[in-house]
Parts: sequence; C-alpha cells; structure tokens
Amino acid sequence: MHTRYCLALDLQDDPALIAEYEAHHRRVWPEVVASIRRAGVVSMAIYRRDTRLVMLMEVDETFSFERKAAFDAADPAVQAWEALMWKYQRALPGAPPGSKWQLLDKIFDLPAQAPEPAPQPRPGGGSAMSRTIVVATEKPFAKVAVSGIAGIFRDAGYQCRWLERYTDKADYVRAVADADGLIVRSDIVDAEVLDAAPALKIVVRAGAGYDNIDLKAASARGIVAMNTPGQNSNAVAELVFALMLTLARRGFTGKDGTELRGKTIGIHAYGHVGARVAAIARGFGMEACAYDPYVPAARIEADGVTPLSSADELYRLSDYISLHLPKTKDTVQSVGYALLSQAKPTATLVNTARAEVVDEAGLMQVMSERQGFLYGADVAPARAAEFTEKFPGRCVFTAKKMGAQTAEANINAGLAAARQIVGFFERGDATFRVN
Ligand code: 3PG
Repeated sequence: MHTRYCLALDLQDDPALIAEYEAHHRRVWPEVVASIRRAGVVSMAIYRRDTRLVMLMEVDETFSFERKAAFDAADPAVQAWEALMWKYQRALPGAPPGSKWQLLDKIFDLPAQAPEPAPQPRPGGGSAMSRTIVVATEKPFAKVAVSGIAGIFRDAGYQCRWLERYTDKADYVRAVADADGLIVRSDIVDAEVLDAAPALKIVVRAGAGYDNIDLKAASARGIVAMNTPGQNSNAVAELVFALMLTLARRGFTGKDGTELRGKTIGIHAYGHVGARVAAIARGFGMEACAYDPYVPAARIEADGVTPLSSADELYRLSDYISLHLPKTKDTVQSVGYALLSQAKPTATLVNTARAEVVDEAGLMQVMSERQGFLYGADVAPARAAEFTEKFPGRCVFTAKKMGAQTAEANINAGLAAARQIVGFFERGDATFRVN
C-alpha cells in the first residue's frame, strides 16, 4: 500500500541558478538517491514552473517524515547535498524558519468522486487498460531477471513479449508493431523502430547509457525515454578491477606482476559507476582522484576522493585511468593523444564506458611511444586485432560488452525498467525521463 505526498518549495529568482539546480537533478548523487530509497520512497518527481517547485512522492508503509529526517541527518553526503541545494532554494512565504519542502493539502481526489465508466473493449480485443510491453534484448537478461520482469507485468495485467538474441533488425521492427512500452539494453532505438511502433508511449533503456536511443526522434513522436541509472553500476565497477588485475598480473601467464595497492586511480567522470569504482579502490588500498566538471568537488570529496580541476591533471597523476564518460557528441573521440600523452609511461587505461569515447589512432600512437602503457576495455576497439598484434600482452578486451552482464545487474536494471513502465502507465511517474 503506497501513500502519495505533494510538497512545494521555491527557487532563487535567478535563471543561472535555476539552470544549475536542474543540472544537479539530472544526475543526483548516488548516496542521496540511495538514502531516499532507504527511507521507503518508491517514486519521486519534481516539477518546476518559473521559481516554484512541486514534488510528488509516493512512499511505502515503512516511510515516515521523521525516519527520513533521521536517515538524512546520519548521512554526510546527504547533508552536503542539502547544503548545496540551499544555494538554489528559498523557503515558501510563511514557511517555518529552517524548514524546506512544505507539505500541500489534498483538496481533490478523482477516485473519491463518482465511479469511472467501465472500460470500452478495444477493436481487436482486450480492455482499454491492457498494455503490451516488448522486451527486445539482443543480449538477453539473465533468466532470473526475465522471470522477475515477467512477474511485474503479469501483476500489472500487461502482456509481455520477448525478443531475445535476434540477429535480424526486421524481427525487432516487426515485434514492436503493437507495443505500448519497450524495454531494451544496448539495442538501437532509431526512427525506423519508433515508426514501426505507432502505439508506443515509453521506451526504457535497462541500463545507464542511453546513447542507443534517438531521443530527438522519440520526443518528436511524443514517446518518453528513460534509463535506469545506478542499477548496474556495481557490475561495471567490478569489471574495471577485473581488467586492471588482469593487466597488472600480465594475463596470469606465469610472469611477474604488480599490485594495485598504493597506486593512484584517476576516475574520468564521477557518476554512479565512478563512485562505485572509488569505493572498491579504497578496499584495494589505492588513492583515488576524479575529474568531472558536472559534479561539485564537495560531493567527490565526501567519498574520500580527491577532486581535480582538469582532465590533464588526472591523466598526469594517475597510474590507472578509468573512463566513465557517457557517449555524447562532446565526448566521442575525446580521449586521444593530447590527453593520453600526458599520462605516466607505465599508466594503464581502462575503458568500461563506450569504445567511441577513445580516439583509437591517438591511443595507438601513445602505446607505440610508451612500451609500458596498457589498455583494457569492455568491448574491443574497432581495431582490436591491430592492437593485439602490435602490443602483445599489453591489451585485454572482453569478447562482448560484459560490464553489466551479471545476474544482479540484470535483476536491478531489468526489474527497475519494468517498474518504471508500470509506474508511468499507472501513475504518470516519469522520474527517470531523459528526453
Ligand atoms: C549501460 O550503459 O548500462 C551498460 O553499458 C550496459 O549495457 P548492456 O545492457 O548492453 O550490457
């Protein structure tokens, strides 16, 4: 049984501050998101009109405002976030001093009014409320995640259709013909797919990076696109260490290796995965530093990580450089000779982000000039064979993109995607919308 609350707050009347506030909310710190969920909040969305903010929050039976306040008070990252947010927010007129979000009174409730008319049958059968959800995954979810996703849609009364390991795009295009909702992984969602799905209202990328979805095309068709941020980040972060250890131990071929302890890891972009990498690095006794122009230094510092003010500095200081940049028009090919040539001669670059953020020609040149430079990547570069031939023993590549391919990550991301679809249709919840 869930309870819904509506709260309001004001922002400072300054367009630059409002833009900054919204930018922070595109990537809320993982600790803050975790603390919200821990308190029993199952969905939360903030809407803005000019300087007024309205928050819709749905909570389970474990929630109370006092319990949430206690969680917040005990968490230094949440405290740092709240302090930062206060730069942008201001109390509502008449709010008690020191208080932020104010609870609003409910003055109208549709279900409490006259009963709804009975649903009309659709042409072709099924009730007006029945939904068809297609899960199209060329790389299938683990079985346990498949049954969890199926259960969520069954409970909601939706039809769920699966298209796994497809090799022909035509099958995918055919499968979405009557889809109201679509779940994908790295499967491409382009205008052709969207045009083949005239009933489609929502597509959820079960994962972090949504570079596989044509957001412009989705928006133009009124289709909501979402991702499931943070859900598979631990799996990706663990793979970073698998790649680093494989390279440090020289492929476990019987040759002497080196240890991670005491080395510096530079985290390039500090989102959910970057923060997990930092946490695991601590366990290995590594020093961690990070560069991310979109994340406040205080947030990085709160994790015991040294925030750096430039990528150049990060590449100069690090023994291991771990890439966590999203693939955007600004980041494609952005890690090239100019950055990599500043790295230590024995540095190791690990790429579990996207192959395209690395300029392969620049990397190859750096690896030719520095015999100690190593490269590990989830998903081989386009010129993988050339890398392996030119730099034997100095590269390691996964056979397929494997970062998120664990049962746990599939359960987290797959079930979150299914819940987000049900939340969207049943309650209009668009919390993780990215378009
Ligand atoms: C992501 O962006 O979440 C990861 O790259 C995982 O991608 P996958 O679902 O294709 O494994």
